[in-house]
This record gives sequence, C-alpha cells and structure tokens, in this order.
Amino acid sequence: MYQEQKIFAVDILRQPSPILSIVVPTFNERANIEPLLALLNNALLTLPHEVIFVDDNSTDKTAEFVKSLAKNDSRVRCIERIGRRGLSSAVVEGVLSSSAEFVAVIDADLQHDETLLPHMLNLLQKSDTDVVIGSRYVNDGGFGEWAASRVWMSKIATYLASAVMPQKISDPMSGFFMTRRELFDEATPHLSVSGYKILLDFLASSPRKLKCSELPYIFRLRQNGDSKLDSLVLWEYAMLLIDKLFGGYVPARFVMFSFVGGLGVAVHMLTLKACFQVLETSFQTAQISATIIAMVVNFVLNNRFTYLDKRLTGAKILTGLLSFMAVCSVGAFANVGIASYIFKSAYQWWVAGLAGILVGTVFNYTLTSLFTWRKR
Ligand code: GDD
Ligand code: MN
Repeated sequence: MYQEQKIFAVDILRQPSPILSIVVPTFNERANIEPLLALLNNALLTLPHEVIFVDDNSTDKTAEFVKSLAKNDSRVRCIERIGRRGLSSAVVEGVLSSSAEFVAVIDADLQHDETLLPHMLNLLQKSDTDVVIGSRYVNDGGFGEWAASRVWMSKIATYLASAVMPQKISDPMSGFFMTRRELFDEATPHLSVSGYKILLDFLASSPRKLKCSELPYIFRLRQNGDSKLDSLVLWEYAMLLIDKLFGGYVPARFVMFSFVGGLGVAVHMLTLKACFQVLETSFQTAQISATIIAMVVNFVLNNRFTYLDKRLTGAKILTGLLSFMAVCSVGAFANVGIASYIFKSAYQWWVAGLAGILVGTVFNYTLTSLFTWRKR
C-alpha cells in the first residue's frame, strides 16, 4: 500500500519540463516584473516555458517580489546573487540553471518585443538556424523614439564589434536572442563574461560558427526605472573587444596597460630628445626628466582607462599619484641605472633609453597593480 502511494506521488511530480527558458537579468526592475510576465503570458500562451529572473540583490527588492509571484506561478524562478554585479554573468548563470531545450534572453524593462519569441522558437525548430536575434537594424527594426546620441553610440559599438565577430550580424549588441541551450553551454567555458555584451561574447566564443537569423523589432522606450548603461559598461565593452582580439591569451588589462605604456614611451622619447639634444642637458638629467614626465602621463591615462573600474577620484588622485611614483621609483632607478650603464658602454642614446623603459615598465605594471589600484 505504502509502495503504491509512493509510485503515485512520483508520477504526479513527473511533469514535462519547459521547452523554453527565458532568462531575464534584473537590477532594480521591480515595477517591470508583473507587466513583463503578463506580456510573456500573452505572447507564449500554452507553450511550456519558464521565466528565470537573475537578480543582483536589487535595492528595490526585485528578487523578493519575484519570489512572491512565484508562489502562485510555477513558470517563475529566481536566482538571487549577493555581492555581485554584471549583466553578462547574470545571463550565463541563468542559462546554466536551465535544462530546457531552448533558452532566450530578454531585458526586464519591456524594451524588447516579446511577441517575437514564438517566431524565434519556430525558426530554431524548423530551420538550421542556431541563434535568432532580435535586431533593431534589419528591415522594419528600429529605435522608436530613442535619443539620437544613444543611436549613434550603439552604431559605433556595432561597427567595432564586426572586428571580432565570425559572422555578419546587423545588431550584435542586441540583448535579445534565443538559441539551443546546448550551443550556449558549449561556448560557456570560453566566454569573457564581463560586461554587457553577452550575445557578442557568445558568438565570438562559440567553438563552432553559429548560423544566425535576425528578426526585426522596434526598441521601445523604458517606462519604469533607469538604464544601467554607463561609462563603466562602455569600458567593459572595450575590454571584451580587446580580450577577443587577443584570443584571450593576454589579459585585456595588460594589453591596455601596454598600450598606455606605448604612449608613455613616445612621451618619454620626445622629452629625452628635447632635453638631451635641444636643451643639451646631460644624458642622465634628460633620462630622469623623461622618466618623471612619462610617469605622470602614464598615471593619468591608466587611471582614466586601464583602471576605470578602480578609478581613483578626488583627493585619492593625489595620494594615488604619490604612491604610483613612490612604487615606480624602484623601477625608475632601474630604468635610469640601466639606461645610463648602456649609454656609457657606447650605445646610441635611444637604445639606452628603450632598455631603461622596458625594465621600468615591468616594475610599473607589477607594483602598481599591487599597490596603487588595489581596492576600489
Ligand atoms: N542581474 C543584473 N546585473 N542585471 C542587470 C545588470 C546587472 O549588473 N545591469 C543591467 N541589468 C539588467 C537590467 O535590469 C535590464 O533588465 C537589462 O539588464 C538591460 O539593462 P539596461 O540598463 O536597461 O540596458 P540598456 O537598455 O541601456 O541596454 C540595452 O540595450 C543595449 C543595446 O544598446 C540592453 O538590451 C543591452 O543588452 C543592449 O546591448
Ligand atoms: Mn533597457
């Protein structure tokens, strides 16, 4: 008798799982949750689906609200992350938690056109398409009443993206797409994850070339809450592009640091030339002046670009510069010492200068990443 009951109970639990998981990253989107669920309901009707909200501990208690709705709606799930931020990583974790055959990603703020979802699914099921993208650029797609500056920014970012994309896509910035879950899972270990551009990351990281189709839609205006896109997001985008361009072998931050260092070299060499050849100072004085000026320029550029996420502001700029210079003085000593030594051994002034810079740069990167920009 007990055995029979148990079997019966197990059968009740064995409901077919959803075909489609819709992953919705949220950060302070409480007011948009109910309208979104209603729209998804209308768009998907009887199609077995689930909606996975991935919330980063929103201050407006979005997660708590989602869970209260989930009590009466088994489609709704919530992943809550504490002490973490990031649109891409939220999407990845949402997809990782899915066991459905298909996954879609959509913003919570109602800007994406959810009525495309059934068409996206249809395309994936009936054709050899791997990824269907909601696009603002093809045919009837567009930006609705979007500010012209945002449209331009989006277009420039799109143009840059084509450098790292294996396929031609009109809207690689789209945060709205659907794919087979297994294809996403395949790419997951290779993703850069940081930043906003999860679709671009997915397409550029997948071990196979994915066949994409685009469906047009009009990007709606946000009704509730604020956009989270800021200069940090743009910076993360630049880091993602660099990461993909260098095949992920060299850390993007190091590439950025080296680029800034390259500009520093130019500043250094110009100063060196000006002091040594024009002002006719001693070589050592010229090299010391060039080192100091290059150091200040490097600090400013690194603080603005390489370490934007840990940028020093206000009074901390001064203490940061002091610590940067203090820390780098070890490197500068090595720099001037080695350069002077080589210069004395009858090498050209510019060979001596470059050798000094090389030693100094290695010191700068290692020590400043440890001391100057360690904490936010
Ligand atoms: N979990 C989590 N963590 N969610 C986040 C985070 C975060 O750190 N930052 C943003 N989100 C969520 C928002 O709550 C929203 O649901 C969605 O991600 C998009 O964020 P928005 O701040 O509304 O982005 P947007 O409208 O400026 O940018 C949109 O358009 C871009 C194209 O120009 C997004 O769709 C982007 O993906 C898209 O690239
Ligand atoms: Mn938005």
